[in-house]
Amino acid sequence: MFIGVPAESTAGETRVAVTPETVKKLKALGHEVGVQAGAGVAASVTDEAYVAAGATLTDAAGAFGAPLVLKVRAPSEAELPLFKPGATLVGMLNPFDAEGLQRLASAGLTSYALEAAPRTTRAQSMDVLSSQANIAGYKAVMIAADQYQRFFPMLMTAAGTVKAARVVVLGVGVAGLQAIATAKRLGAVIEASDVRPSVKEQVESLGAKFIEVPYETDEEKEAAQGVGGYARPMPPSWLARQQVEVAKRVAQADVVISTALIPGRAAPVLVTEDMVKSMKPGSVLVDLAAGKGPLGPHGGPGGNCPLTEADRIVVRHGVTLVGETNLPARVAADASSLYARNVLDFLKLVLNKDGTLQVDLNDDIVAACLMSHEGTVRRK
Ligand code: NAI
Repeated sequence: MFIGVPAESTAGETRVAVTPETVKKLKALGHEVGVQAGAGVAASVTDEAYVAAGATLTDAAGAFGAPLVLKVRAPSEAELPLFKPGATLVGMLNPFDAEGLQRLASAGLTSYALEAAPRTTRAQSMDVLSSQANIAGYKAVMIAADQYQRFFPMLMTAAGTVKAARVVVLGVGVAGLQAIATAKRLGAVIEASDVRPSVKEQVESLGAKFIEVPYETDEEKEAAQGVGGYARPMPPSWLARQQVEVAKRVAQADVVISTALIPGRAAPVLVTEDMVKSMKPGSVLVDLAAGKGPLGPHGGPGGNCPLTEADRIVVRHGVTLVGETNLPARVAADASSLYARNVLDFLKLVLNKDGTLQVDLNDDIVAACLMSHEGTVRRK
């Protein structure tokens, strides 16, 4: 099978879908890999490194024209005509973008969105949401530390003592857990909130404090269990009590990292404008839900805070609000390595030993990831 790897064209996208390591493994499985010249440069992978691993260099037409195309992000409308009808596409294609999926179907592509893989043990090695959210959580803390005008650790110096930074993490999924672990390594004092009670133990095992918001009704308890490992929208009664508890911590915080998401819905608002006003001057909010929240007063989508602006760093009421929407792209080399391994593991489910492709709908991972096939949208 000839596998094409185009350069990513989405603004700010630095990642690439194969690395020399995965090229070698694909070659060992009997496949040929054609990488668009320059595709890895932003992720610190040179064309020479790909060639040394056994890939051939090609242009955009050569990479998009392959029977199997590996990408990081969904192709643009301008790129769709470069595909051969009937080709297979694997990438992070945004399963909630109905129009985008329709375009892939109309282009005759069999497409797989890896974000749709189930959260099961067997799917773990191809779980792109986890591999990339982990990086986002780490980088969020790095950016916070860079923007914050004080130390993270407590320091005792001849010139006096410096207090440890107080960090509040809102939403403790994969990104939130890594944010806690990273802030802890830097010496911060951390508190964290999530709707799912199962998170409490994980928060405490990382040395942070869980912000308790007891469940008062069966409805609240049931919603908090989530579905498939993901959160569900919580009843307003619980959210109101959570907001009171979170507001107290946010007012005291030096850094807030918010990561709360509900798949397929707008991100919940957890830090209101009044809460931003209550924060200390110079404090920092890194909002990983930037661009995914309800419309903010600036006219665009906010994040977990309505004042956050997607892909901008703004100062509001003395607080620095970081709205970067693609933090994994800021750690391009490792993000690509992990993503490329996720892709390679997924390919084992759709590529036969004889090099042909199969669509095995009896495989729960394949069935969940399949977005379009034979001209129609197939999203489950
Ligand atoms: P996510 O990115 O969809 O959401 C981030 C976090 O925000 C979640 O922990 C969610 O509960 C929380 N959240 C949503 N609404 C909130 C609110 N109003 N207040 C506070 N927090 C709120 O989640 P992610 O990181 O994709 O993972 C969710 C969970 O899935 C993981 O923690 C884990 O339990 C599970 N998982 C299981 C895997 C497996 O078994 N193979 C692999 C990866 C994750």
